[in-house]
Amino acid sequence: MHSINRVKMSFQARPDNVGFARVAVACFASQRDDLTVDDIEDIKLVVSEAVSNAIIHGYSGDESKYVTVDCTLYDEGIEVVVEDQGKGMEDVDKAREPAFTTHPERMGMGMTLMEALMTRFEVTSQLGQGTRVVLFKAFGGQGGTDDGTDQE
Ligand SMILES: Nc1ncnc2c1ncn2[C@@H]1O[C@H](COP(=O)(O)OP(=O)(O)O)[C@@H](O)[C@H]1O
Ligand SMILES: [Mg+2]
Repeated sequence: MHSINRVKMSFQARPDNVGFARVAVACFASQRDDLTVDDIEDIKLVVSEAVSNAIIHGYSGDESKYVTVDCTLYDEGIEVVVEDQGKGMEDVDKAREPAFTTHPERMGMGMTLMEALMTRFEVTSQLGQGTRVVLFKAFGGQGGTDDGTDQE
């Protein structure tokens, strides 16, 4: 795929910055003027979920740490990679299950939502090392095969 534009941001793991990341990515995505309102809403929602996870679960509220968001706009869609160097997960498959949460006051639906709304959703994580979430949304209902592999 041909990259049209790319923006990388790094910000402190503060709850205030969830809103910042959501708006910044939406603004970046809006460079494509054929995006629908639904596309933008989906992107905002998944960025909020992924960044919240990095702050709440990855760093357990340690605001001295940083979350990075790396966005690339392609002809075919937008890719957003959210990364933390926090505590990571032992079992990613388990964490992706609907209603799975390790936090007593949460719903465990963030990853389910990301999976449902994105064309491609990948999570890689290592205990004690951190977590990397790849979110790809194809524009105009195109398939999500940005790397040649077919994935749901
Ligand atoms: N960045 C992350 N670092 C560490 N653990 C994570 C991260 N993101 C998700 N998790 C784990 O996956 C679980 C499920 O995440 P999610 O589906 O967003 O639900 P919730 O945030 O409501 O718990 C979390 O409860 C947590 O245990
Ligand atoms: Mg969550």
